[in-house]
Order: sequence, then structure tokens, then C-alpha cells
Amino acid sequence: DPVLFVTSELADFVKVGGLGDVSAALPRALLNHYDMRVLMPAYREVLESIWPVHVIGQLPGLADIPACDLGRIELPEGLTVYVLICPELYDRPGSPYLDESGQEWEDNAIRFARLSLAAAQMAMGTVGARFEDQGWHPDLLHLHDWQTGLAAGYLRWSGDETPCVYTIHNLAYQGLYGPEYLSRLGIPESAFTPQGLEFYNLLSFMKAGIIYSNHITTVSETYAREITTPAFGCGLEGLLSDCARDKRLSGIANGIDDSWDPQTDAYLACAFATNDWAGKRANTDHVRRMFRLAVSHGPLFAVVSRLVHQKGLDLTIAAAESIVRAGGQLVVIGCGEPAIENALRNLEARFPGAIGVHIGFSEREARCIFAGSDFLLMPSRFEPCGLSQMYAQRFGSLPIAHRTGGLADTIEDGVTGFLFDDLSQQDFQKAIDRAFRIFGCTELFYAMRRAAMAIHYQWRLSVTPYRRLYHQLMVPAGVTAH
Ligand code: ADP
Ligand code: GLC
Repeated sequence: DPVLFVTSELADFVKVGGLGDVSAALPRALLNHYDMRVLMPAYREVLESIWPVHVIGQLPGLADIPACDLGRIELPEGLTVYVLICPELYDRPGSPYLDESGQEWEDNAIRFARLSLAAAQMAMGTVGARFEDQGWHPDLLHLHDWQTGLAAGYLRWSGDETPCVYTIHNLAYQGLYGPEYLSRLGIPESAFTPQGLEFYNLLSFMKAGIIYSNHITTVSETYAREITTPAFGCGLEGLLSDCARDKRLSGIANGIDDSWDPQTDAYLACAFATNDWAGKRANTDHVRRMFRLAVSHGPLFAVVSRLVHQKGLDLTIAAAESIVRAGGQLVVIGCGEPAIENALRNLEARFPGAIGVHIGFSEREARCIFAGSDFLLMPSRFEPCGLSQMYAQRFGSLPIAHRTGGLADTIEDGVTGFLFDDLSQQDFQKAIDRAFRIFGCTELFYAMRRAAMAIHYQWRLSVTPYRRLYHQLMVPAGVTAH
């Protein structure tokens, strides 16, 4: 069965956070069962790695959304990716969402409405006559985050009933725009009500995804429950509670792909397996050199993260001095909000040799840090799933994390990491103190490492619930599946 996976990030070309990893891994994991194909914008990174892109058709525009070409790319492992070739919208420096100075692109509404509309057009078969893949129509759309939420709306407003699964990776980013965008994006006035995509007099891409899709998933069971409450629901908790009541909302945890293996990872200074703690230590020494830290026998703490409010960096920054005073060291790789970047640079300047900070994004360094660190700090305010803690565990680094979302579901306190309940400096500090104590009891510490490294969060496990869901939605009403 043909399924179109619609996303704004794909790690093969461009990754801002976990969505990029999920988009690269999940369609591949489902390829054995479905004719899964991906749709994404042809960002500059795409055009730079594949040129010229093979054009297979044209997509008409709508209101202020420009017409564009549709290209097709074949990626390793048999993954077909359709890309939207629209240089005026996508061929630019910066990230998929922000310009080089960190501001949202001012035409993001148009850019992601273009992506959403393309998905709907492919499902409805309204691709220009030259469409080479004639006959390929998805029987189901799998949409991801606000950037694709309007796709379900465009289908319904045209009377098309292609089933849609909408996966929320992060409810905090909603794609809210002024009502003037209704006409600019070709959205019928009648949709602008609280029962439609209106959110307090704004147009909400996120809400469109929730309202017009058949089923909503999010990326852990705990986050699926949390978003039905005011503390995590970002104003959509009422709507999401209704979805949960109607069995339209479920949590399906992310996995990690096979490249996350300390025995085979080519980026590491030294490959290692469970119990080869000398091999692990070689990676620790390598990280110390990377960050110009002093030689030490103390524990090495790490942060690998987008530097945004969600991730609780303020707590980490406040705890840094106590870590250093207790004989620990800290390395950080990340980029994001300038205020957090500056606070981290100041820390590094205050504690040279004990704290090292790299502002930037590097897959290689991230992998070296997971392999070399003893503990990973993740005091996230909320965490829909979180991949970093799973990567760290796989590489024998124990996460110290707030008991929320996917962190609560993937870390066993005192066994594969440390969890703290209240998002307070005091509780976080207590968890760090426990980590120091365990580090001092070598046998206990190694037992925790072994337990963490033994967990396998394989995508295979998530494939079954997604298949069940796809199947349920693709079977025509009235037919009972056997
Ligand atoms: P989120 O999607 O909220 O950013 P996740 O933990 O799900 O959080 O995924 C983050 C992903 O991005 C992980 O693969 C992590 O290793 C990676 N990552 C984050 N910041 C950096 C960075 N500065 N350099 C390299 N990888 C990073
Ligand atoms: C989001 C969430 C993160 C999750 C990722 C992939 O960016 O913040 O928790 O792991 O999406 O689903």
C-alpha cells in the first residue's frame, strides 16, 4: 500500500532535532510493509547534494502559494523521496525554520503551506499532466508537526477523504498566523471557527492537523497523557482530551537506528563493547582533548542539545559550579538561543580546563561525546520523546533527567540512569549528587552502565503499532479485518 510520509526535516540532508532522525529511520523501517515514500522541501542542502534533481511533474499553486516543480530522488535502502523544487521558498542559507540571524523566516506560513498543499495534491492526483509516477497516489498521509498540519485541511476542504495520521513531535511549536493568512493560503472562511483551525483569533497549523486528521499520535505514551493537561497542553489540552476520549490520540515511542552502536561507530576515537571500560575511557580522554580539559579521574558530564527553554539549560548552568567543585567536568555541544549560548560561553571562561563548550552542530562530536561521557544532563521542562538519552544509554553514558514525557518512559531510575520528579534546582542537584556517589562505587556504576547499554530501543518495536494504525485507517468502513 502506498503511504506518503510528509516532513520538514530528513537527516539524510538536514536535521535540526529529533524529527530529522525519525524521518530518516521510520519510513525505512516501514518499507518492508508499505510502499513508503517521503515528501519534503528541496532545501539548499538537498540541491547541493543532488544536482540536477530529476523533475517528474508540476504542482499548481493556490492564492499566494506559488506553483512549483516536483522532483524525485532515490536514497540508500530503497527510499524514494519527492522534493518540492521552489527556489524562491527553499533555496536559502540558514535552517529550515530560521534565517542566519536566528529569526523565523517571515514567509514560513507560505513555505509550509506549500509543503502541506503538495501532500494533499499528491493524494488527490492533481499533479501536473507530466507527472511521471502516474498512478502513484498515497492511500494514507502520515503528517508530522505543524509544518504539515494544513495538508489534512486541504484534503477535507476539497471533499477528499484520504486518511491522515498526524504525529505531534512537539506541541510547543504551533504555526500561529494572523487571520489575513486565510485568504493568502486559500483556506475557506468557514474553517475559521473554534471547531476548525481558529486558535484565539489566530490561524493554527497545529490545530488543523489535529482537527482534520483521522488519528493523532505523539512520540511517547507519557507525553500523550501529559498533553491532555493544562501544564503541557499549550492551550490545546481540551481538544486533545476529546481526542483521547474518542480514541483518536495515542503514544508510539520513537526508536533509534542501528548506526548507534559503540562497536561499529566509525566516528569514535575507539570502538568499544560492554565491559570494555578501557575502550570507553579512551573515548573519554579523546573528549577531554577535544575540549581542552585537564586530565582527571573524576566523572565527565555532558550536554548534547538544542539550546532552547524546553531543555532546562538554566538548571544545568546553575548546577555547573557544584559539578566542578565536586571534582567533575562538563562538556556541552549545542546551538540555539543567543542568551543561552552566551551564558555557556561565560561558564567556559570561568572554569577553563573543567568546562568545555562548543556552540554549533556536529554529528561527529555528538557521537564522540555520547561515547566519552559518564553522564548526560537532560533537565527538560517537557520532552515528547527525546532521542539523546537513548543514544547516551547505548554508549554507556547514564542520563540524569526530569521525569517527564519520553524520559520517564525510557529511563529506569537507579538502573539505567537517574530521574528527578520536581523541576527544581534542589531536586536536580540531588540527582547529580546521587550520580557522584554511584560513580564512586565502581561495581555499582559498571552495573548501571551494563544495564543501560543492554537496552535496545529498535524501530522494529514501533513498527507494529504504526502498522496496526495504518491498517485500521486504510480498511474501508464496514469491512472487518481478519
Ligand atoms: P529535540 O528533537 O527536541 O531536539 P531529541 O533528543 O529528540 O530532541 O533529538 C535531538 C537530536 O539532535 C539528537 O540526535 C541529538 O544528538 C541531536 N543534536 C542536538 N544538538 C546537537 C548538536 N549541537 N550537534 C549534534 N547533534 C545534536
Ligand atoms: C521533538 C521533541 C523530542 C522528540 C523529537 C522526535 O523535537 O522535542 O522530544 O524526540 O521531536 O520525535
